[in-house]
Amino acid sequence: MYYRVPSPDGQARSALDANLVYSKFLFVTLRREDTRARARLREAGSCIARGFFNDFHANGSPNPPSNETVQFLVAPTPRCCNDGLLSAGFVAHVTTKYRPRLGEIEAELGRRLGDAASVRAVDGSVKAPRYTSAALQEYVDNGAASRQSGRSAANVIIIPMNKTAAWWNMSMLERHAYFYPHVDETQGGQVAGHAKTAEAGIQTIYRRLYHNPDGYQRTDEYDFVTYFECADEHLATFDVVRQALRDERRNPEWRFVIEGPEWRGRRVQRW
Ligand code: HEM
Repeated sequence: MYYRVPSPDGQARSALDANLVYSKFLFVTLRREDTRARARLREAGSCIARGFFNDFHANGSPNPPSNETVQFLVAPTPRCCNDGLLSAGFVAHVTTKYRPRLGEIEAELGRRLGDAASVRAVDGSVKAPRYTSAALQEYVDNGAASRQSGRSAANVIIIPMNKTAAWWNMSMLERHAYFYPHVDETQGGQVAGHAKTAEAGIQTIYRRLYHNPDGYQRTDEYDFVTYFECADEHLATFDVVRQALRDERRNPEWRFVIEGPEWRGRRVQRW
């Protein structure tokens, strides 16, 4: 039995669906690379950052200094494409407990950038873990990477993704098994499952999972945004973990994953 909590639309939802903190990823693609556009971007960045703790200065403390945070990111070589995500040379990741503030920030950024850039926003929210038992929590927390400053953990990887209808058609309890070592009926043997397959990253990759705050399986939206930070020397471990998770013989959960574009960049103090 779950606790039922009221939600903004008045519908009762389980406590697992409650959005604890809201997040917005603002992907900015400059329309021209000149000094005026860069100056506008810099100024817009400092305006939206007012009142937020800059996560570039995170220091590994288990209790973050604030829920109101901003982190600026840059991609050294954005791709030439039109999707607004991979083309983005700049990202601002803003987090707050008060969702309307994110809408105001998006509007403010768009207004300040004007025709110098396009902005694509992807929303997320932090929810209570839904498949993580106390034992799994202990396993993934054991020596887990804490959040470091942008100076020591400069790399960021952002991957939005969806899960297939078949995944969402399973009950929560059936889905649960995929995160643990379990017997895979399709292959007929014991498999590692998500957490054990990702073990190599526990100590070196700082990770955050954002859910779509408005629900799953929404047209033209992502179910999740996965977010990772690591030091230069651990980027190779990230790639190993990502590849391992894609191996459906070890991690059958990936049969249900539809990967979105992967954005890679670096944390910076300001744009
Ligand atoms: C670095 C080591 C990693 C560890 C220890 C880890 C562990 C976990 C755990 C324990 C959960 C369950 C959260 C819950 O209870 O709700 C989870 C969920 C998830 N992880 Fe990972 N993970 C890692 C890396 C990755 C990577 C590299 C990706 C993607 C490329 C990824 C994608 C996801 C997604 C999308 C979910 C949500 C799945 C769902 O709710 O259906 N993880 N992870």
